[in-house]
Amino acid sequence: EKAGYKHFMLKEIYEQPQAILNTLRGRVLPEEGEVIFEESGITQDLIKKTKMVNLVACGTSWHAGLVAKYWIEKWVRIPVQVDLASEFRYRDLLVDDSWLTIPISQSGETADTLAGLRIAKDHGSTVISICNVVGSTITRESDGTIYTHAGPEIGVASTKAFTSQLAALYLLGLFMAKARGTLDQKAIKEKIDVMLEVPGLIEEELKAWHNRAKDLSCEFSQYPNFLYLGRGLHFPVALEGALKLKEISYIHAEGYAAGEMKHGPIALIDKNMPVVCLAPQDHVYEKLLSNIEEVRSRRGIVISLGEKGDEKLKKLSKELIEVPKVDDRDVNPFLYTIPLQLLAYEIAVQRGCDVDQPRNLAKSVTVE
Ligand code: M6R
Repeated sequence: EKAGYKHFMLKEIYEQPQAILNTLRGRVLPEEGEVIFEESGITQDLIKKTKMVNLVACGTSWHAGLVAKYWIEKWVRIPVQVDLASEFRYRDLLVDDSWLTIPISQSGETADTLAGLRIAKDHGSTVISICNVVGSTITRESDGTIYTHAGPEIGVASTKAFTSQLAALYLLGLFMAKARGTLDQKAIKEKIDVMLEVPGLIEEELKAWHNRAKDLSCEFSQYPNFLYLGRGLHFPVALEGALKLKEISYIHAEGYAAGEMKHGPIALIDKNMPVVCLAPQDHVYEKLLSNIEEVRSRRGIVISLGEKGDEKLKKLSKELIEVPKVDDRDVNPFLYTIPLQLLAYEIAVQRGCDVDQPRNLAKSVTVE
């Protein structure tokens, strides 16, 4: 049932091109530059009247929400707030019927997310969930659901569910942009086209990323702490990379917005601190390079993820994991996440951890 893979997690990492493709399938008309969500409850009218997009989730699903905030605010120009469900549910909320609440959950059974959904509904918000499990409680209690079609995810660490959530949220962002007229047809068409290239790109790179992760795991599996840094879209990816590492390898890892480093975590950096830096050549590339310089001057060990052929970054890094350069970097979160999943996986294997069933964790957290 693991189809020859040593762990479900590894199988599921390798299934990502298919999972993303399945989530896109039937929902895009590339020629027309259009996104369609049949039977999801999402309509143009709903989007037109929405004043606030409210994303509520836990763990990795929350990270997907954080990525979506950057996409939706950029493309749709609606404010997006992203809440941890456990915080959302106990706050004095401002939610009303002009809000669109989107719980994001792989399992559809997470207690905090479900409670958040119910509270949002009580405040009059429409609720459209993003979920991977057909008929789960969250889908039953939502006004509509956009299903991710990742297939069953067995490994406790979320991998293909995350990138499938990203795919669903990416499409949702484009649907909203169309409904609000904030992106024209040509722009939407281009964004669909580049998204459709992603599964193939991942397929091409998986083996190389995996080999890199194996090499690096020999060198880095014994360090007690890791820091992950990114900016913009790559900040949530840094959080996700750190979460993967800590949950399956039990190494302490923190994800940080790179610009926040000087406000505290920089004090931790010395020659024993590997710092994973997400450094594509986007609009904050130069800023990220300055952060790398700061790490280097404290003798931190720089492991970078950056674009193929980036010699400058290579020189500044102890190790570089290469990621393909794409025409539109809005799809980068798909590409930068997967090497981090593989790195966490190989480090955990190297440390002899039970990758699919990490200690103290359950696949779905149905209690508070
Ligand atoms: O099923 P859900 O997406 O609601 O689960 C949320 C979190 O429990 C989950 O993402 C958790 O953080 C994963 N173990 C992370 O890999």
